[in-house]
Amino acid sequence: MTDHLVVLLGGRRVGLVERDRNDSMSFSYDPEYRTAALSLSPALPLGDRRFADRDIRAFMEGLLPDDPQVRLLWASKFGVTDDAFDLLTHMGQECAGAVQFAREEDLAELIAGGGDYRRVDPKHIGARLKALREAATHSRWTLPDEHWSLPGAQPKFTLARIGDAWYEAHGAAATTHIIKPGISLMRHQAAVEFATMRAAKRLGLSVAEVDFDDFNGEGAIVVRRFDRIVVDGEIRRIHQVDMCQALGQPPSRKYERDGGPTGKQIADLLRSQSTRPDADVRRFSNALLFNYLSGSSDGHAKNFSLLIAGSQVRLSPLYDLATGLPYEARDAPNYSAFAIGGVRNFGEAYPKHWRQHAAEMGLDADERIAFIVDLAARMPDAFRDSMLSDIGGDLGKLLWRRTSERPGRLVSHCKSVEQRIGESRAGQGSAGGASKARGKSTPASNRTSFKARERGESAVSLGEPDIEGDR
Ligand SMILES: Nc1ncnc2c1ncn2[C@@H]1O[C@H](COP(=O)(O)OP(=O)(O)O)[C@@H](O)[C@H]1O
Ligand SMILES: [Mg+2]
Repeated sequence: MTDHLVVLLGGRRVGLVERDRNDSMSFSYDPEYRTAALSLSPALPLGDRRFADRDIRAFMEGLLPDDPQVRLLWASKFGVTDDAFDLLTHMGQECAGAVQFAREEDLAELIAGGGDYRRVDPKHIGARLKALREAATHSRWTLPDEHWSLPGAQPKFTLARIGDAWYEAHGAAATTHIIKPGISLMRHQAAVEFATMRAAKRLGLSVAEVDFDDFNGEGAIVVRRFDRIVVDGEIRRIHQVDMCQALGQPPSRKYERDGGPTGKQIADLLRSQSTRPDADVRRFSNALLFNYLSGSSDGHAKNFSLLIAGSQVRLSPLYDLATGLPYEARDAPNYSAFAIGGVRNFGEAYPKHWRQHAAEMGLDADERIAFIVDLAARMPDAFRDSMLSDIGGDLGKLLWRRTSERPGRLVSHCKSVEQRIGESRAGQGSAGGASKARGKSTPASNRTSFKARERGESAVSLGEPDIEGDR
């Protein structure tokens, strides 16, 4: 017997996933869709090809939670296996991006709108957060009438904010925000993630809009979805794919060290896909350097996405940034997800590695070094302000103390970067030629020239939503 699952994009039917009796899937676009503009992913280009199991599976797995317990709970709720086909048959009505899944018999209802909202108060949201926090990984992310799916390992749920009120989205209703209580084994992790996102924003990187809210005594990070926009009161979906999906890799390969996409592969993908390739490769490099300098170890390929709106394809705003510096070494990895010029361990990169990183990204090495100098100089203040002002109170003070103090933590890490660049310049200066050659491509004051150039990347319009260039 063959099972069929219809795939929709932006509310329009685009193709069919078929599953044979060996649980092997294939996918092809409908003939009438093949001349459309928007594909599901760069790894699934439009055309008459029938994609094999591994191609469509990488895309579909990429929409589902990493946590096997959540998958098993979903499977048992519907009396099906935890295979991606089965899970998305039941939970694929509201996903990351503009994709949706439906059985043929449910299609008409889905296209007609198929969903509704239920208003919830902070007390209800707080109780849901508490249940997620206490049950740790064994918790149910979704409530019985919800049919959304999001990837990632952290417990989370998604809600719609309409006006000043929060709503649960039932069926195929679209949502606007992602709510996460934080990783329960890491104390105050949601606050740390919030502070890291805010610090990145202070440093001029373009990041998703975040808040740290209290729901009846339960703190949570609240992230506005950049893959949703509200037009005339209606929530619309914007398509996005993460870098594993875009490169046809399953989520099990999200880390470079596990054989997943390399930084260079992502930079190359941005060069071939983005409608602002130079700006987006630079933004991607900025993010890798931010993660490296701030001790944020989890910036893997699924924490970067392409946002695809109308004719524009851009690296999305950054999300899921979180420093591990406030934690003990045993609780947070001391290496970054992507190597910087071959180096992963925090604190071990020298200017030659930053130059190699620039070469891998196809960017000017002097401009990258200028960026790092500027970032290292401003980063401690950005984190201090985020923790002391945005979080504030005793928690803000505690987090700042833990992030900044002790050798190897933020302040000394950033200082060592400046020191190494200074030393390398002094070395090159005495050697003569190198500094002269550098002077040619980058004017004397690196920092000023970097800022001026970055400011040139002002806000660009992406259909309706705006992706700010990094400042
Ligand atoms: N602001 C956002 N807008 C749209 N999609 C997002 C946003 N933040 C995260 N996502 C999507 O949700 C997924 C899970 O979110 P993330 O914060 O990365 O969770 P986790 O901490 O579990 O990895 C991401 O992989 C991405 O696909
Ligand atoms: Mg993530």
